[in-house]
Amino acid sequence: MAILDRVMLHLESVSKTYDTGDTALRNISLRIEKGQVVGLIGPSGAGKSTLIRCINRLVEPSQGQILLNNVDLVRLDNHQLRLQRRRIGMIFQEYALVERLTVMENVLSGRLGYLPFWRSYLRRFPKADIENAYRLLDRVGLLDQANKAARRNIRRYEATRRYCAGACAKS
Ligand SMILES: Nc1ncnc2c1ncn2[C@@H]1O[C@H](COP(=O)(O)OP(=O)(O)O)[C@@H](O)[C@H]1O
Ligand SMILES: [Mg+2]
Repeated sequence: MAILDRVMLHLESVSKTYDTGDTALRNISLRIEKGQVVGLIGPSGAGKSTLIRCINRLVEPSQGQILLNNVDLVRLDNHQLRLQRRRIGMIFQEYALVERLTVMENVLSGRLGYLPFWRSYLRRFPKADIENAYRLLDRVGLLDQANKAARRNIRRYEATRRYCAGACAKS
């Protein structure tokens, strides 16, 4: 049982056939443990993006189970899925930063899903979130950029933003 306790993400027989009839995934099973860093490598068209998108259900799997900390993401309704998605950071190939906002505002936006409506509407972030965001920017060497518009070093900002969504939650 000890090994199962460590499994964070467990895919069981996941398949995906698109409406076009293209089968991108056929019976994929894998386990990833907490703290593991995993790279997914394969030629173009192998199904890497489909697999990753299935994990947060940007693509709906045709079949199979996707267990994140023992919760089957495939069976969740929209509300439950939103709650689980707050725990999944995804950095898109096309970045998802708001360029007219500052670096700090972009990083804090990783926290929006955790705030009550009035706070997110007014973008009034709790002090602890702001302190954590500063700490994270410092860690990636971007502290001096906090109040600048997020046009440069886009990938690093995006990664920090995603990390903020998870890291602030744990503190
Ligand atoms: N939205 C889609 N509709 C139909 N077929 C798709 C779609 N996205 C990907 N595919 C097909 O699924 C297969 C895997 O694609 P993809 O997951 O993008 O692979 P990779 O990321 O490894 O390049 C390919 O044959 C591709 O043409
Ligand atoms: Mg891809």
